[in-house]
Amino acid sequence: MNTLELHSLNKTYGTHRALHNVSLSVPSGSRTVIVGPSGSGKTTLLRMIAGFEFPDSGRLSLNGQTLVDNTHEVPAHQRLIGYVPQDGALFPHMTVAANIGFGLSTKGSARQHRIDELMDSVALDSNMAERWPHELSGGQQQRVALARALAQQPRLMLLDEPFSALDTGLRAAMRKMVARLLEDTGVTAILVTHDQSEALSFADQLAVMRHGQLVQSGHPLDLYRYPEDEQTALFLGDAVVMPARIEAGWAHCDLGRIPVNNHRNNNSAQIMLRPEQLQLLSILPSDAEVAGCRAVVTDRDFSGNTCTLTVELQPLANSEQSGRSLLVRSSGMYAPPAGSTVQVSTIGHAHVLSEV
Ligand SMILES: Nc1ncnc2c1ncn2[C@@H]1O[C@H](COP(=O)(O)OP(=O)(O)OP(=O)(O)O)[C@@H](O)[C@H]1O
Ligand SMILES: [Mg+2]
Repeated sequence: MNTLELHSLNKTYGTHRALHNVSLSVPSGSRTVIVGPSGSGKTTLLRMIAGFEFPDSGRLSLNGQTLVDNTHEVPAHQRLIGYVPQDGALFPHMTVAANIGFGLSTKGSARQHRIDELMDSVALDSNMAERWPHELSGGQQQRVALARALAQQPRLMLLDEPFSALDTGLRAAMRKMVARLLEDTGVTAILVTHDQSEALSFADQLAVMRHGQLVQSGHPLDLYRYPEDEQTALFLGDAVVMPARIEAGWAHCDLGRIPVNNHRNNNSAQIMLRPEQLQLLSILPSDAEVAGCRAVVTDRDFSGNTCTLTVELQPLANSEQSGRSLLVRSSGMYAPPAGSTVQVSTIGHAHVLSEV
């Protein structure tokens, strides 16, 4: 059963269209991640689901209950939706414990016990309970906000950039912790992030927004492999995009002949490969027996376990084009040095992008 259903939501601020015809199904117990550039409407959408913003038109329902349509609106406090806003938004005049316990109906030791439990679940030390929000780091504030939202035992949890104040290591640890916490409690969640690797790792369902529109949604691996267009491809990671002629399931391009996942013939299309689909084999510049494409490594960006190389293609015998630069992901330790000559081969299918 789908927990949350968004049907053709629209929202305009003055002349600015913040949301345009947004429809999405969020399955029960799943984690949906919304990604998109700044200003694309992510927060507006979350606030609308939480009940702090109302659509100009469209319908929103949760577990079969209509929350908003043309005729009625359920107010935020009756929706049982947890919301962790982008800035945490703790009550500044309340301690950590009071913030977390804000919505709890229990009193006395049961209340104290629940607060301790919640602090523990978000890895906050119990000695922070009496601190004030301004005495916490950004990451700690975000964890208090998360514990406060969890305290409500929500039907749905909305998280707006919940890890943005954390450094890389803590960010990954928090992400795993929150994923486990949501899984243990069975709460459906929608998370907004700018971080593409976070999005790909956290999501069961990924939704990409641009200019107030939901441009594509689906399983993260499918979106990574089969992005609708070049912008979406680049938003989710590095990509090698080049023109090609598509014929009978093959792309003819500067890299030679590559199988494609789309059999429509097309004289001019853009194809995409992820850099890890390109493989390099070191050869001698004088080696005349090389089948396929030759290239020269022009740049090496070493980042530990991987190395991103820029290679410049040398012209194929029957091609007028030359000099195309490509990104290639190679293993950090065994990547060929800058200046070396390599043979380039491809793995898997190239993806044919839609024209925009
Ligand atoms: N209350 C408002 N009044 C007028 N314009 C608004 C209002 N809220 C949002 N907007 C505009 O709507 C657009 C979408 O804003 P939103 O906050 O949803 O973006 P976002 O995708 O969350 O961006 P970011 O990644 O920077 O947080 C922006 O252009 C913003 O300026
Ligand atoms: Mg935002």
